[in-house]
Amino acid sequence: MSLRLGDIAPDFEANTTQGPIKFHEWLGDSWGLLFSHPADFTPVCTTELGKTALLKGEFEKRNVKVLAVSVDDLDSHNRWIPDINEVNDTEVNFPIIADEGRQVAQLYDMIHPNASEKATVRSVFVIGPDKKIKLTLTYPASTGRNFNEILRVVDSLQLTANYSVATPADWKDGEDVIVVPAVSTEDAQKKFTKGLNIVKPYLRYTPQPNK
Ligand code: BEZ
Repeated sequence: MSLRLGDIAPDFEANTTQGPIKFHEWLGDSWGLLFSHPADFTPVCTTELGKTALLKGEFEKRNVKVLAVSVDDLDSHNRWIPDINEVNDTEVNFPIIADEGRQVAQLYDMIHPNASEKATVRSVFVIGPDKKIKLTLTYPASTGRNFNEILRVVDSLQLTANYSVATPADWKDGEDVIVVPAVSTEDAQKKFTKGLNIVKPYLRYTPQPNK
């Protein structure tokens, strides 16, 4: 059965381009982004891993550790990385799992046989410091992901974790957020001192608390 939000992210040991890791131990108290790509030396993947490397500072700011995976071996990853660096004018600065035995791919249900028997699809898992899965995404091989959107979701998840607020459709960092339904309006008035805009009893906006 595929993994669901709130499930504990399965632990594993794997070889990566930065040495062997035990996943949970490697995550420590950080948030995690585990994402698969179909294959090394392919065009869309080359842009995706480059974009992720270019966003290193943004992931670090949010305390997110990044980990890529495909079913290619270590030698292939290590031969491909210079291409990613050259094409994107960056340096791949996160580990890539060599999952030729498909252990991680199977644990995280990253191979969708009706799409490809052999390769992982573009899966995304955001994992919280409690090791629970907070976001899953699945993209086809032909569509490169929007890594700024992944950062936007992390911002939303961290706001919810820290301030009991949710984010509305198309929310961008700095815009008003929504008080979660579990907080009463009476409590919200005390908690959100920047003010409340009560559009409906269940739709209460407040300025972003960490701005
Ligand atoms: C790519 O990364 O460009 C790609 C990989 C598999 C199928 C289609 C595109």
